[in-house]
Amino acid sequence: MHDFKFKNNELYCENVKVSTIAKQIETPFYLYSHHTLVDHFTKIKEAFKTVNPLICFAMKANDNMAVLKTLADQGAGFDIVSVGELKKLQKIKADTTKVVFASVGKTEEEIIAAMNAKILFFNVESQPELDEINRIAKKLKKNAAVALRINPDVEAPTHAKITTGTLKNKFGIDLATAREIMKNQKKYANIKFSGLHVHIGSQIIKSDPFITAIKKVIEFINSLKADKIILEYLDIGGGLGIIYKDEKPQTAQEFADAILPYLKETGLKIVMEPGRFIVGNAGIFVTKVLYIKDNGVKKFVIVDGGMNDLMRPSLYDAYHEIVPLKRKATEQEQVDIVGPICESGDYFAKDRMLEKVQKNDLLAIMSAGAYGYVMSSNYNVRGRGAEIMVKGNKFEITKKRERFEDLIRGESIPSFLK
Ligand code: LLP
Repeated sequence: MHDFKFKNNELYCENVKVSTIAKQIETPFYLYSHHTLVDHFTKIKEAFKTVNPLICFAMKANDNMAVLKTLADQGAGFDIVSVGELKKLQKIKADTTKVVFASVGKTEEEIIAAMNAKILFFNVESQPELDEINRIAKKLKKNAAVALRINPDVEAPTHAKITTGTLKNKFGIDLATAREIMKNQKKYANIKFSGLHVHIGSQIIKSDPFITAIKKVIEFINSLKADKIILEYLDIGGGLGIIYKDEKPQTAQEFADAILPYLKETGLKIVMEPGRFIVGNAGIFVTKVLYIKDNGVKKFVIVDGGMNDLMRPSLYDAYHEIVPLKRKATEQEQVDIVGPICESGDYFAKDRMLEKVQKNDLLAIMSAGAYGYVMSSNYNVRGRGAEIMVKGNKFEITKKRERFEDLIRGESIPSFLK
């Protein structure tokens, strides 16, 4: 559930009318509900309480500092993929000992920064990366804690661009190589082998693929036990699906009920990395109708937000529900809802039934809290809109709209062109 609801035909975020915000803040913008974030985090925590997992929010889904602070205040750790993400956490004074660091291409700078920040462990994605972490740790005269990211070669039924757990994907280490590494632990004098990590993809709505992957990992853990190799952590990644349209995803409790017996069997401390589950339905994107155009074949609702602001529909054909901020209960019509960008792929919905709207009407693109703002760009020299958070009956800008000066910062004409 989330806190974006209609009351008297007006969309509210918690106790604030979204149209009231739009009167004060230029569209388009992203809007997040504090309460939904806390609620979703709590749902996972409660569902898994018997193993008391460390829940590391996958901040790639949303790195707005207000979102991060909200979750840090709830006791969340974080799953990071870059030194930039780490620095954001340091900026909000999050506890970096509760950070895990994945990414197939960690640089020396990133490895050093993470070691200095005393992160919980690196999720290591290849043997050369492990060699590199070992080398750097030795140079720093430290030990680096790692979890090998296992690629279990499991197909997750989701969009091809967001499946990660098969050997056709670049992620993780195949089981045979992982076995070799674990057997030759002594080669890595400055590595502490803390655990294993597995993440098979995103927007997965049933527990079966998770179970298949976990079973493979358990087999692997058992084979290590036979070699007297004992680990401390099992990081089961993220990937829990949410409702965008009419999906019937497992609830956190159903997921927990299905997977907990396997997790308990490992006897390891559990780390989880949910992203979308926590933040996906905690955010919307608000945009204004600029023009309506009917070319005899199609009717287009042209809005002031574009694919540069929210890429998911054009990148993954993702469905996002679209509703007017004020329902007028007029008849519905079939339209394409498109942005101003010079690409045919710049749309939010195609052939969608929408209540008749007119110029200056405001629309909310729902479930835009995960992989929304973070994947936006300045394509067509468009400044990104603001990000706003609501808590109860209060709202505040947490990131300002980008102005032209922000967009050209650092850019100059080379001397040979002057
Ligand atoms: N852990 C790892 C190692 C990941 O790669 C990801 C997501 C997560 C956790 C969090 O997954 P989640 O719980 O959010 O499903 N941009 C795409 C999604 C890309 C997911 C990348 N990795 C989208 O908009 O659907």
